[in-house]
Amino acid sequence: MKDTHPKFDIVIFGATSFVGQILTRYMLAQFPIEGELKWAIAGRSQNKLNELKQSLGIAGEPLDILVADSADENSLHELCSATRVVISTVGPYALYGEPLVKTCVALGTDYCDLTGEVQWIAKMLEGYEDQAKTTGARIVNSCGFDSLPSDLGVYFLQQHAKQKFGEPCSSIKMRVKKMKGAASGGTVASMTNIFKEVASNPALRKLLANPYAICPPDHGNKVRQDNMNRPQYDNDFNSWLAPFVMAVINTRIVHRSNALVEGGYSPHFEYNEAMLTGKGLMGGGLAAGVGFGLGGFAMAAVIPPTRWAMEKFILPKPGEGPSQDAQEKGFYDLRFYGTTDSGQEIRCKVTGDQDPGYGSTAKMLGQAAACLAQDISKENTPGGFWTPASIFGNQLITRLENHAGLTFEIID
Ligand SMILES: NC(=O)c1ccc[n+]([C@@H]2O[C@H](COP(=O)([O-])OP(=O)(O)OC[C@H]3O[C@@H](n4cnc5c(N)ncnc54)[C@H](OP(=O)(O)O)[C@@H]3O)[C@@H](O)[C@H]2O)c1
Repeated sequence: MKDTHPKFDIVIFGATSFVGQILTRYMLAQFPIEGELKWAIAGRSQNKLNELKQSLGIAGEPLDILVADSADENSLHELCSATRVVISTVGPYALYGEPLVKTCVALGTDYCDLTGEVQWIAKMLEGYEDQAKTTGARIVNSCGFDSLPSDLGVYFLQQHAKQKFGEPCSSIKMRVKKMKGAASGGTVASMTNIFKEVASNPALRKLLANPYAICPPDHGNKVRQDNMNRPQYDNDFNSWLAPFVMAVINTRIVHRSNALVEGGYSPHFEYNEAMLTGKGLMGGGLAAGVGFGLGGFAMAAVIPPTRWAMEKFILPKPGEGPSQDAQEKGFYDLRFYGTTDSGQEIRCKVTGDQDPGYGSTAKMLGQAAACLAQDISKENTPGGFWTPASIFGNQLITRLENHAGLTFEIID
């Protein structure tokens, strides 16, 4: 039986991962260890956790350490019993994530993560959603660059559309205007693992192509969505478009939000994402080049010998990622354009002040977990698999603007 007043509010499982270390430093700066919010770090290696703690200096001295391994259910049971919320950065989630979700759901412990693996979320929904509703565990996937800015950007635009026009947008496009950042070994491992799974299980291809793959069965939206996987011209943005690699997860989360937010956005909601590459020959050429590059990467990742060569010689390894300098110089600028059934138009932008995948992601994940622990009561919000927009809404937008370097703004 779980203690009704566990020792910690938040435990970071995977604190020694590339992103977990950035998150730990961010948490220390935001939430002093002996302050109101009680938090601790966890991982599978006591030595690596000790090293991380030492690297934090005097401020990190009171930090508690918990050792737990995804392969050891007893250790996960102890971890989940000791806290109200677990943050997990232990990935690829399809390889290591399920035992923790299973334990959180069994004990009613809240959970948030950084997964971008749609096939794994679909599997967790099938296995644990009903039980989470009875135990009270609130599970919130995809609380990093995938998919917070997209999910909350759409939510933000819909709030303003309803206020201004008295109706929500039935169609929204998200366009990446500018972005600077790089991938870590952990992200690359998660992506190549998806290609491995598809190669051995062709049915997954169908699931990954389904825009409603993680919607509740009764979601009712029958609109044919454009997966934007080829270059095309967008008159609303006056620019060529290239496929955006994160659209595969972001669009699925946004469609799940449409089914879960109070009142829903629209029963025939349309949503897609792409990258702006500019006008004219240059813009068209760039869009074609990005599409070709992504197609080439996907093909090489499906074929075992080329996948092996890429993993060995080209791509970052687990634990590696962009330098501190690259994280600080990174940024993103996302534009949203919505139209309502009666033809009204509205636009907004969402920006982040550090590289999307690590500097900014760590801050978003930390604030999402704090929001879950401090703002979203069990009395008002029952257990289940939520999306960031449907569980956090404006409370997280405010936190992200005040403490995580994001902006949300309606534009002309
Ligand atoms: N949503 C987003 O925007 C976003 C952004 C960044 C990353 N991500 C995702 O976040 C995850 C982490 O990325 P990363 O680059 O930080 O990865 P990473 O550095 O490779 O870290 C993976 C972590 O998993 C831990 N681990 C592996 N097996 C374990 C086990 N059996 N028990 C306990 N821990 C275990 C490792 O422990 P050790 O430290 O002991 O080796 C390590 O801490 C990836 O899945 C990535 O795709 C998502």
